[in-house]
Amino acid sequence: MPTFSFAALLTLAAAFGCVAATSTAQNNSICFAIQDAISAQSVVAFPGQVQYTQDQAHYFNSSTQTSLCTVEPGSASDVSRIIKLLGDAREPFAIKGGGHTGNPGFSSSPGVLISLSRFDAVTYHASNQTVDIGVGLLWEEVYQQLEVHNRTVVGGRIPGIGVAGLTLGGGYSWLSNEYGLVVDTAVGFEVVLPSGEIVQASTESNPDLFFALKGGFNNFGIVTQITLQTVPIGQVWGGISIATGDQLNASVAALNGFVATVTDPKAAIIVSFVTIPGELLVTMELFYNGPTPPPGVFDAFVAIPAVEQDLQTRSYLSLVLAQPAGPNAGPTTRGFFNTAAISAPTPPIVDAIVNETIFWSNQLANVSAANIAYAIEVFLPSVLGHAPEGSSAYPPTRSTGILPLTINYQFASATDDALVSSAIVSSAAQLGRVAEALGQPVDEVPVYGNYATPGSFSADRVFGASLPRLTNVQKKFDPRGVMRLTGGWKV
Ligand SMILES: Cc1cc2nc3c(=O)[nH]c(=O)nc-3n(C[C@H](O)[C@H](O)[C@H](O)COP(=O)(O)OP(=O)(O)OC[C@H]3O[C@@H](n4cnc5c(N)ncnc54)[C@H](O)[C@@H]3O)c2cc1C
Ligand SMILES: *[C@@H]1O[C@H](CO)[C@@H](O)[C@H](O)[C@H]1NC(C)=O
Ligand SMILES: *[C@@H]1O[C@H](CO)[C@@H](O)[C@H](O)[C@H]1NC(C)=O
Ligand SMILES: *[C@@H]1O[C@H](CO)[C@@H](O)[C@H](O)[C@H]1NC(C)=O
Ligand SMILES: *[C@@H]1O[C@H](CO)[C@@H](O)[C@H](O)[C@H]1NC(C)=O
Ligand SMILES: *[C@@H]1O[C@H](CO)[C@@H](O)[C@H](O)[C@H]1NC(C)=O
Ligand SMILES: *[C@@H]1O[C@H](CO)[C@@H](O)[C@H](O)[C@H]1NC(C)=O
Ligand SMILES: *[C@@H]1O[C@H](CO)[C@@H](O)[C@H](O)[C@H]1NC(C)=O
Repeated sequence: MPTFSFAALLTLAAAFGCVAATSTAQNNSICFAIQDAISAQSVVAFPGQVQYTQDQAHYFNSSTQTSLCTVEPGSASDVSRIIKLLGDAREPFAIKGGGHTGNPGFSSSPGVLISLSRFDAVTYHASNQTVDIGVGLLWEEVYQQLEVHNRTVVGGRIPGIGVAGLTLGGGYSWLSNEYGLVVDTAVGFEVVLPSGEIVQASTESNPDLFFALKGGFNNFGIVTQITLQTVPIGQVWGGISIATGDQLNASVAALNGFVATVTDPKAAIIVSFVTIPGELLVTMELFYNGPTPPPGVFDAFVAIPAVEQDLQTRSYLSLVLAQPAGPNAGPTTRGFFNTAAISAPTPPIVDAIVNETIFWSNQLANVSAANIAYAIEVFLPSVLGHAPEGSSAYPPTRSTGILPLTINYQFASATDDALVSSAIVSSAAQLGRVAEALGQPVDEVPVYGNYATPGSFSADRVFGASLPRLTNVQKKFDPRGVMRLTGGWKV
């Protein structure tokens, strides 16, 4: 046992209070061992403390578990000390970036939660137009700091999302039609390996690890810094328009027209069918990388009478901040995500998605405050073609088109967890059957791990053809299986 500091003894009382309250006798001596090992740049927090509550928080509270303690490391060397202690003790742990996963246990743990919030630096290198980004940041914080340089990065589309998890899964952006996925713009990572060694991963150093981190999630270590290539940005056009259910047909027609005719890579849309209790809504999120979209591209959407409309020429940051962060996503909100392997949003697929929205909103009408949303993220068939085949763990193949569909069910009560979880699995299976019946190559479409639930997909379906290579990298960099002590898609 380590020698306790005075501060540790004070927090011990708070920690024991929690243990008694939950009646789960857990041994938190690991927390004190970490507290003794880390430098003054880092802090351990226990239940009842403000920092603990902040560290534990997730976008969906269903993605939270009660941890023994949390730790905010302030340096890569402290991350190294922490991971060595956790690995030696075989203690379950979590790594949390922005906390936006919809999968329980992916960034939460009954053991020790490592919150990376102190990794908050953005360093732009004008000489080569790359940027070093701390893994505790949200995308809008990065966009804001790059704006003065008239540059941005390919990243998240909606406020609140973490840089870390989105990047380590692949990353779909408003700019993906032009530049590819987030991982396609990655230049390098700083990683603390399970051994505690701090290394760089890039095309020059540890290229196999670099490949693995681009979509291979948390299987290889704790990433402390991500370097991305920046891209030019000026004024953009777009925002959001929300229509009521009586505009469903017009919205579907506008969507189908866009999919069939628009080939301009500067244009992107997300059309979502959303039900809140008793009401169907259609949200249309529109984006054009330029101050004025060419005539015709968005006209059909703009013409639909809206209950709320905010479409304008604006900064990229302003456009991202105008997107809704999700209906009812507050501290009491529970929610799950799912997706289906669909290669293109053809009209019959869109019809099936509308049908699923209405079907499941009726089925789940009894569920506490249920919100059902199906978001159709339209990309060009070439979206995965911006980097060579085999250059990243995700996508495991780049030769198909993809509809990164998000199915998101939100609700209020934990007693509904099992029902909602089985519903979202059934709905994805139904859409998979529809796509298959329409002749889409569902077995080849890369399942996006950042949207998928383990109830529907296993890791081999998420990693696909990348799996054998990832397994070799995992054996090389994590022979003791330390990263298996944390949740997520495991190789
Ligand atoms: C409202 C909303 C909008 C979204 N929009 C988009 C979008 O536009 N494009 C898109 O591609 N996805 C989007 N997503 C999905 C998003 O990519 C995932 O939710 C992702 O998990 C978010 O990353 P995070 O850091 O916030 O998550 P977290 O829950 O913190 O982490 C997710 C996973 O990454 C691991 N991880 C986190 N940090 C590290 C690290 N430093 N080292 C190693 N492993 C780490 C965690 O252990 C966990 O398994 C959206 C999600 C939501 C809820
Ligand atoms: C708690 O864990 C430590 C370190 O593994 C061990 O030495 C100690 O005996 C344990 N205490 C209890 C009460 O189980
Ligand atoms: C970019 O420039 C920075 C600062 O000069 C340097 O540290 C970094 O290695 C460069 N990156 C690449 C990929 O050349
Ligand atoms: C950014 O663009 C604006 C508008 O074109 C221009 O006035 C400004 O000088 C640019 N800033 C930089 C750093 O290039
Ligand atoms: C919407 O389209 C469906 C199918 O094409 C049709 O049956 C229905 O009458 C239309 N509804 C409205 C309000 O136009
Ligand atoms: C969130 O989840 C945690 C862990 O399951 C639970 O202890 C807490 O009460 C929940 N908070 C809210 C506001 O529901
Ligand atoms: C609508 O969805 C339900 C549930 O998945 C399915 O059983 C039904 O066949 C679908 N109806 C149509 C017309 O596709
Ligand atoms: C919803 O509740 C009503 C009344 O309790 C019940 O009759 C109905 O079967 C429930 N519906 C579902 C889908 O569970």
